Amino acid sequence: MIGSLDKIYLGETIDVQDIDDWTKRDRRKPYADSKKGMLPPKVARMMVNIGTGNTSKTVYDPFCGTGTVLLEGLMTGHDVVGSDIDGRATAGAEKNIEWLRDQYDVTGEAKLFFSDATQVAKLQELRENPVDVIVTEPFLGKPKPQFKELNNVFKGLEKMYLGAFKAFREVLKGGGKIVIVFPMVETPKKTYDLAKLIDKLEQLGYTTTSEPVVYARFGAVVQRQIIVFTLNKK
Ligand SMILES: C[S@@+](CC[C@H](N)C(=O)[O-])C[C@H]1O[C@@H](n2cnc3c(N)ncnc32)[C@H](O)[C@@H]1O
Repeated sequence: MIGSLDKIYLGETIDVQDIDDWTKRDRRKPYADSKKGMLPPKVARMMVNIGTGNTSKTVYDPFCGTGTVLLEGLMTGHDVVGSDIDGRATAGAEKNIEWLRDQYDVTGEAKLFFSDATQVAKLQELRENPVDVIVTEPFLGKPKPQFKELNNVFKGLEKMYLGAFKAFREVLKGGGKIVIVFPMVETPKKTYDLAKLIDKLEQLGYTTTSEPVVYARFGAVVQRQIIVFTLNKK
């Protein structure tokens, strides 16, 4: 209660975040890979919430890395599927999920596959059981690229993202959402991003209705744009 002589303000605490618990999932899980960069659990949680709308879903991360999205998906009561092109990442994510089950009361199912994201349409299990939502932070290029490399870096990333979105059509339910990180680099002369890709994705049946939300740590060269797409299948 805050008071002055003529006014009294009353406030109600409706929620309190357990900061230590977020730090535990950020820093104390057994497998980490700081070279590839890891999504902060709070950002992963927001992305999962946006994708699922809090109803029970199967959440798929095709660039799962250490499994941050998968862990937050399990924490919020969903089933999760992860895959990555790096076998150390899928093994590490599996270890982190075992650790999570040990630390918390989570009961959702978890499945992991070793796959290039552009080739996930070949995963028979996913083709037969399409997922409800994809939540992912793909490869974003080197954390500190030189300005002269950026044209090529973004060309390569655009090709990989496009290939991945083509494959996602085969493993995501119609009407399903994709909550995804796009990279962005601002230089004094130009901003590099994947904005042009959005038009190409429209031709594949993906629509986006909201402006990208930028998330970046202070001083980071590669910033993250979080974008939400919906897949329309005819
Ligand atoms: C930025 S990291 C994701 C980090 C993850 N969000 C985490 O918190 O640990 C990108 C991941 O994409 C994987 N990767 C890179 N190219 C890929 C591809 N073509 N298909 C699937 N995974 C790929 C890398 O091995 C890496 O684990």
